[in-house]
Amino acid sequence: MNAELLLKERRSINYFDKSKPLSMDIVKEIVDLAVMAPSAFNLQPWRIILVTNPDSKQKLYELANNQDKILEAPVTVVLVGNKEGYDSQNPVWEEMLESVGGHDAIVDGAKQAAKFLYGSSEERKLKFAESNTGLMGMSLMVSAKEFGVDSHPMSGLDFDGIRKDFGLSNEEEVVMAISLGYADDSKELYPRRPRRSFDEIVSVV
Ligand SMILES: Cc1cc2nc3c(=O)[nH]c(=O)nc-3n(C[C@H](O)[C@H](O)[C@H](O)COP(=O)(O)O)c2cc1C
Repeated sequence: MNAELLLKERRSINYFDKSKPLSMDIVKEIVDLAVMAPSAFNLQPWRIILVTNPDSKQKLYELANNQDKILEAPVTVVLVGNKEGYDSQNPVWEEMLESVGGHDAIVDGAKQAAKFLYGSSEERKLKFAESNTGLMGMSLMVSAKEFGVDSHPMSGLDFDGIRKDFGLSNEEEVVMAISLGYADDSKELYPRRPRRSFDEIVSVV
């Protein structure tokens, strides 16, 4: 599908077909494509929890205001952002060192810049984790559509509850959850609601 079609045909699916499983091979292809999303310094400060088994689904359902799609969809992805994903353990710095021909000074400069830009306040840390991981979320939904898989993003979540019950570490934030599966064709989706127009949202300065 081209980008126009992917963007126009992606919808937030309220009803998933419970009889249609989603193979892990397809989920892997979706994720492998989604991680083409851009990120600051290519730091990719994210990880993904795939919620598939009935107990985990039930737990997430209760932490997501009982949104039925979590029980109906074969897979729900929890997108986790790392507020300290710029730290020196990130393998991206080694990769950068290789790509710049081993010039330590370049990588050290980039590390310092990243630490200042993204780590010098709690607000910056949170923006870093959420903006990068949010872009990956959109990438994941478009990628899913490319493989014929429907999705539904959710932030109506008990973020702290998920953090505790799904064992996130202190520097990690739950950014959103995205259910994946196939739409239940027997149920009608509400028509797509309008979007604000160019004139309403754009100011030229
Ligand atoms: C970050 C984010 C959080 C959302 N959270 C929820 C949610 O918790 N529950 C829900 O039913 N829909 C949720 N939605 C879906 C929106 O309601 C939906 O995207 C919007 O109405 C536009 O519809 P469309 O995605 O079909 O174009 C969320 C969407 C986004 C992007």
